[in-house]
Amino acid sequence: MNRVIAHRGASGYAPENTESAIRLAAALGARSIEIDITPTADGHLVLHHDDSLDRCSNGTGYVADQTLAQLSTLDTGSWFAPEFAGEKIISFDQCLQLAEALDLSVNAELKPPFGLETHCATLAIKSANRHANVEVLFSSFNLIALQALKSIAPASRVAYLIERPGQDWLSRALALGADAVHVWNHDLPEDISEALQNNLAMRVFTVNDAARAEFLWEQGYASVFTDFPDRLG
Ligand code: G3P
Ligand code: MG
Repeated sequence: MNRVIAHRGASGYAPENTESAIRLAAALGARSIEIDITPTADGHLVLHHDDSLDRCSNGTGYVADQTLAQLSTLDTGSWFAPEFAGEKIISFDQCLQLAEALDLSVNAELKPPFGLETHCATLAIKSANRHANVEVLFSSFNLIALQALKSIAPASRVAYLIERPGQDWLSRALALGADAVHVWNHDLPEDISEALQNNLAMRVFTVNDAARAEFLWEQGYASVFTDFPDRLG
């Protein structure tokens, strides 16, 4: 992963988790993207942040209740701005194909609905295996999903996502065999030295201020996730 990772693509300028946001991230100089993936009713993964379709499309209800074909008819651009009208929800496979063409590395964040962790992990590994030329790092707040990934594909690279560092974040990450820990910009761990000594890459979401990014890199953080990849050096 590069030290600047376009969060949900260049989501400050284009609708999040879309082809436009990914293409724009690359055009703005990003070499790595973060995207959110969630399962459809018919065994595919699509790029979408929320369980529900309501916020980021003209659909309603849950992503997991609809097939890829049904989801592909929705407009996931108009909610953001009129010029993105007609933007389609894309599959994880389409995203990886695009990433390969644009020479982007991909952090795919698994957003499994409750109970679908292993299903989601299995689909994610299958997609990554179909696009072996793309550097993929999986991440999740969901430890069950990450454990499933590691048990299906022990060599897969995973990052443990945490919003608030509890006492056991480091031991959990090490027990998982994680490569990285991704932490929330507004509640950083007090001390990351032991994590760095254990070769965990530490990354911070979401950082849209250049001075803050510089500070974090100086502290030893490897990367920041940003909605505006052109703002950070
Ligand atoms: O992966 C970093 C960040 O995206 C995690 O939070 O809610 O933006 O997916 P969220
Ligand atoms: Mg995310």
